[in-house]
Amino acid sequence: MPAPEALLAWLATPALLTVALVLSGPWRLSDSPLPRSLVRELERRQQDLSRLEAAADAGARAGAFPRRRAPLGAAAADLLGCSALKEVTSVSFVGSGITKRVLRATLPPSGEEIALKSVHWAGNDVSRCVQRYGHPGGCYRLAAYKLLQEAVLMQSLDHPGIVKLRGRCYDRSSAPEMKVVTMLELGTPLEMINLLQTPWEERFKICLDLVELLYYLANSPLGSIVLLDFQTRQFVMVNGSLKVTDLDDVSTKEPSCQLDHDCTLEFPTKRFSLRCGMHKRCEGINEKKNLFNAYRYFFTYLLPHTAPFVLQPLLKDILNATGNLRFGANETLRAFQKVLHLYKSGLYLQKKTTYLKDYVALKGFQSRDAEDYKCWPSYRHLGCMLSVHNPEEAASICSSHPQCQHFIITPRRTWTGRPLALFQSNFSDLIPEGNMVVYIKRSAFSGSL
Ligand SMILES: Nc1ncnc2c1ncn2[C@@H]1O[C@H](COP(=O)(O)OP(=O)(O)OP(=O)(O)O)[C@@H](O)[C@H]1O
Ligand SMILES: *[C@@H]1O[C@H](CO)[C@@H](O)[C@H](O)[C@H]1NC(C)=O
Ligand SMILES: *[C@@H]1O[C@H](CO)[C@@H](O)[C@H](O)[C@H]1NC(C)=O
Ligand SMILES: *[C@@H]1O[C@H](CO)[C@@H](O)[C@H](O)[C@H]1NC(C)=O
Ligand SMILES: *[C@@H]1O[C@H](CO)[C@@H](O)[C@H](O)[C@H]1NC(C)=O
Repeated sequence: MPAPEALLAWLATPALLTVALVLSGPWRLSDSPLPRSLVRELERRQQDLSRLEAAADAGARAGAFPRRRAPLGAAAADLLGCSALKEVTSVSFVGSGITKRVLRATLPPSGEEIALKSVHWAGNDVSRCVQRYGHPGGCYRLAAYKLLQEAVLMQSLDHPGIVKLRGRCYDRSSAPEMKVVTMLELGTPLEMINLLQTPWEERFKICLDLVELLYYLANSPLGSIVLLDFQTRQFVMVNGSLKVTDLDDVSTKEPSCQLDHDCTLEFPTKRFSLRCGMHKRCEGINEKKNLFNAYRYFFTYLLPHTAPFVLQPLLKDILNATGNLRFGANETLRAFQKVLHLYKSGLYLQKKTTYLKDYVALKGFQSRDAEDYKCWPSYRHLGCMLSVHNPEEAASICSSHPQCQHFIITPRRTWTGRPLALFQSNFSDLIPEGNMVVYIKRSAFSGSL
């Protein structure tokens, strides 16, 4: 177990010591023989890993993978190695789970930040094993296999929804514990509470990123991959995109079966009976398990509320279809793409009254960066900034806000390419220079201008 002093020490010390701690456990290397049952577990993990490596290599040879995977232990030109760990600076703690601990560090000279993953020797995984087998070195090694499996997957699979492996450092010879550190793209954890307060368009993006990942996993070169431990904390945001970072608990095989009865999929609130397929496997069970988890951890929270009115029936159907497992990954992706298309093309806008005729357009203005009335969910903290399809939609929004007197379509765009419009009430916020068009409510002319 780590003494609190040890934790404090690595938080307070320069990189070198920290890295030394990452690479070594807190215990002394024990010479005691490994218990036989632990040896069997280690052998099983080793076999699983070898099988995965073989599958990944076969995929690489068949050209299924875009990048060639270097065998474990060999140097790969495009990956960082142990020497990078000696150079990193500004190391600090990011987070830990049951099995792994994550630090962040800066790579000289570029200043790029990366995540360093290693075995969490104070985590539940290692401590439960130590309780059982009384062999810290062997237990560390058992956990290290999970890290190795994750590294093989991250390197073999190539999708923007999977955190990229940037490097790795390990020493298999240091029996029995096998020191492993992986270097990854650094992300930020998902804050569900904050996400609920972001604009629908941004929440939709996260769900779409996830659906694209699940589509890839369902049709991956290694087979249909299920995330066995599917929770929001297995995902991070990297440069505005959702990525999975925890791949130590996945399966690329679908369970074998004799009868449909063998293919039940159970969740706390629901239970599904799938078919036992022709090859005596529960075909599609991996894909469906991922989808239902996406439904219960992501879609139900992020997808429906404050969506554009006309898109709501489509989103309801997506929720219904994933919540009932009526859709597979392919249909779900298609449904999302349809929503995206309708949204981007403005086809969701109802053609009713035109509001724009109530506004006068004046060219040659810009806006001061001043505080004004707020709306929700705004893209700007101190004012009301929303994404719109065109000036007509902006006019309908301005007309529905009692405070709004004028708006500007800014050059800023969201990820879908829609412009952001700034809605304001105070005419002092307008500066008569620049080349933007300001749309002013006709009714406002009677008073302030
Ligand atoms: N690439 C990354 N960038 C930033 N933070 C990360 C990254 N990878 C993981 N983290 C953070 O570190 C935590 C632990 O990582 P990870 O999920 O891999 O460990 P674990 O032991 O498998 O966790 P769990 O107990 O959830 O299975 C995560 O919850 C996440 O917040
Ligand atoms: C970050 O995302 C933006 C917008 O999608 C993209 O243009 C840019 O290349 C990305 N940057 C990196 C480092 O991936
Ligand atoms: C889903 O849709 C079906 C009809 O297609 C309906 O019978 C069912 O009640 C709906 N379920 C939910 C949870 O909305
Ligand atoms: C989903 O689409 C992929 C790619 O087009 C295809 O190979 C796969 O068979 C489809 N899966 C299902 C279940 O239809
Ligand atoms: C309008 O802006 C001016 C200048 O910033 C400020 O002095 C004034 O109080 C604002 N008026 C309102 C009603 O907020």
